[in-house]
Amino acid sequence: MRIVILTGAGISAESGLGTFRDKDGLWTRYDLSEVATPQGFARNPALVHAFYNARRANALDAAPNAAHRALARLQGARAGVTLVTQNVDDLHERGGAREVIHMHGQITRALCAACDHRWEAPRVMGRDDACPACGERMTRPDIVWFGEYPYHMDRIAEALAACDLFVAIGTSGEVYPAAGFVEEAAGFGAETLEINLEPSAPGRFDRVITGPATRSVPAWVAEVLGG
Ligand code: APR
Repeated sequence: MRIVILTGAGISAESGLGTFRDKDGLWTRYDLSEVATPQGFARNPALVHAFYNARRANALDAAPNAAHRALARLQGARAGVTLVTQNVDDLHERGGAREVIHMHGQITRALCAACDHRWEAPRVMGRDDACPACGERMTRPDIVWFGEYPYHMDRIAEALAACDLFVAIGTSGEVYPAAGFVEEAAGFGAETLEINLEPSAPGRFDRVITGPATRSVPAWVAEVLGG
């Protein structure tokens, strides 16, 4: 059985990393147009770097939780599991997952706006950090901002077209193109499952498992692996 799993901020919530749209979510405290758009970065790169330096420190200081580890167990136990994440933290990798597809980029990586070179980000980064490849001082976080095209969309489209089961974990399903993956997979005949605190959109998925990810994801993985 080929499975595509899409995770969102909810899978890292119990590791202490905030979500975006829940009560006290990031976008209730920051104006995303200022810190998560190319225009915001052009207007005030120092503000944007300060925002991501704080999120990077939180992500680096956080630990993967039982949900991250359960998905790594699933990947290790059976072939045909594609793990796509909207998250920019590296908790899936530190939880043991392999080949994680980061469609919104990674907060642990830096990107040169002049030559597109990418490298491991320092804990604290600024726009004037010189690019190791071209030397230009136009460094930005390797994050896909609103209005920019997500990464790895070809690979994701291929996996959605071939999967038997699509699972969305801890995502509100508010941001496209990720929000459309459930319909895309269903259109190719896949079963669809949502694992969330509560249903994000009743009727959108064939099956919904509710509850905190650190409980519901290991339970679901045990069900798939037969115990
Ligand atoms: N266990 C399971 N689900 C949880 C938990 C938890 N402990 N805590 C929160 N959730 C769920 C919420 O119910 C909600 O559906 O996680 C989801 C968080 O939704 P958002 O904050 O919108 O995060 P996400 O869906 O990942 O946002 C998608 O939006 O701002 C952009 O680029 C950003 O990647 C992000 C994208």
